[in-house]
Amino acid sequence: MLISGNGSNLQALIDAVEAGRLDGAICAVISNRAEAPGLQRARDHGIPAQVLDHREFASRERFDAALLEAIEHYRPDLVILAGFMRILSDHFVNHFSGRLINIHPSLLPRHKGLNTHQRVLDAGDHEHGCSVHFVSCELDSGAVIGQARVPVCADDDATTLAAKVQRQEHRLYPACVQLLCTGQVRLTDRGVTYQGQLLPPTGLDLTDSH
Ligand code: GRF
Repeated sequence: MLISGNGSNLQALIDAVEAGRLDGAICAVISNRAEAPGLQRARDHGIPAQVLDHREFASRERFDAALLEAIEHYRPDLVILAGFMRILSDHFVNHFSGRLINIHPSLLPRHKGLNTHQRVLDAGDHEHGCSVHFVSCELDSGAVIGQARVPVCADDDATTLAAKVQRQEHRLYPACVQLLCTGQVRLTDRGVTYQGQLLPPTGLDLTDSH
């Protein structure tokens, strides 16, 4: 897994593995920031945690080449981005095509990029949420695997919305990773399939109604 910060999604995946809800293991966590709290979460659970500081590389391409090598050392089936605050070069994305996924705090294709919670409020949206998607060369534009929705209420601000969305993220990400681990979800030339059936552009609706 690749992180840059808190690592609450990493924690959700660690919890899912430890609870036996995931047919997989997290083989390593790599952060571009040494101070990322998520690194300690990994170490606390016996997962190798490594820092690769992008500021020590002359270019994006060189950093990405070193990152690619560090990841391949572990021979992962999946590369999971969770709050990894770096734009990845085309070479990196293409190398891991079909096994590189990300979680984004909006109902894609709405609100690509940063500050999604405030932008949802500014747009007057009645609904918000999060999306897990395959990573493609265009930012936040890869094929969507699944989404979870939350209502936007009159008294919501960016902070309350962020908390609501994160609660959904912590369910959605392990659920999507499990579908990939079991081979039920795949990226094909036609788009994302679930049990062999092509999904709509918004993927599976994995909203928790409780
Ligand atoms: C999440 O909100 C995710 O949607 C976005 O970055 C945030 C990471 O949070 N890509 P955390 O580090 O997992 O707590």
